[in-house]
Amino acid sequence: MDRIVASSEANVVTRVVLVTGSTSGIGEATARRFAMNGDYVVFNSLHSVDEGERLAGATPNSLYVQGDVANTEDCSRIIREVLDAHGRLDVLVNNAGVTRKIAHRDLDAATVEIWREIFDVNVFGTWSLCLAAMEHLRATQGSIVNVSSIAGLRATGSSIPYAASKAALNHMTVLLAKAVGPEVRVNAVAPGLIATPWTSDWELEHDFVAAVAPLKRSGTPEDVADVIFSLAQSTYVTGQIVAVDGGFSIAT
Ligand SMILES: NC(=O)c1ccc[n+]([C@@H]2O[C@H](COP(=O)([O-])OP(=O)(O)OC[C@H]3O[C@@H](n4cnc5c(N)ncnc54)[C@H](OP(=O)(O)O)[C@@H]3O)[C@@H](O)[C@H]2O)c1
Repeated sequence: MDRIVASSEANVVTRVVLVTGSTSGIGEATARRFAMNGDYVVFNSLHSVDEGERLAGATPNSLYVQGDVANTEDCSRIIREVLDAHGRLDVLVNNAGVTRKIAHRDLDAATVEIWREIFDVNVFGTWSLCLAAMEHLRATQGSIVNVSSIAGLRATGSSIPYAASKAALNHMTVLLAKAVGPEVRVNAVAPGLIATPWTSDWELEHDFVAAVAPLKRSGTPEDVADVIFSLAQSTYVTGQIVAVDGGFSIAT
């Protein structure tokens, strides 16, 4: 019996987890959640290089790779650097995202340039990373978790281009899950309003959620990180979009 336990322990491999946009908010909490589990974490961001280096320095067995997910060459380089450092990739969390706050009725403000800017990161960037990572995820029977939004599920969100980008991301998640199973699982979380730097001055929205949502508060980055972590653990779940919104969607 002792020998069996020893041999199964020897076979345990440490997962390598890449979280894009992980110097702040949901991405940072997600990277911390995997690191708490003993996984090797790769932090990424576009501008906040010092913060990325600091987080990687403070987290055991972690690495920071600067890169713009909207840039296809950067996506390939990010994956290459992960493989060079660790030799494998088990979980890809596509969290990096951008928005513009534009009233939905202000049609002229939602220019095609803004649509492109948002889709470049939220949709095309996610797709580029999935493509660059896929052969490595197949090799580890790994999984992808995309960070979407309830704005992709309902007629809400910080702007129409943002909501449409998250709707595209949701459908991409489902179609990709169908295409790459059984080797790779693909799921998404759809957060409601989460208290991150992104929403730090959205006081009216935080008050509204606290009044209306069954759980009576906005979410924390850790609330979302827990669900992302659990989707990466759940070996019989694929193609799902899981709302993490304190019940806001069922109350409005
Ligand atoms: N907060 C919410 O209420 C909420 C609700 C629903 C969904 N979400 C989604 O959750 C995700 C994270 O949001 P958050 O609130 O945690 O935002 P956040 O605190 O502003 O963090 C955004 C992170 O993404 C990085 N990033 C932005 N553009 C990037 C790019 N082109 N390439 C690489 N990294 C990039 C940022 O790094 P730099 O600072 O270096 O640019 C930062 O690390 C987004 O996909 C967002 O759509 C958020």
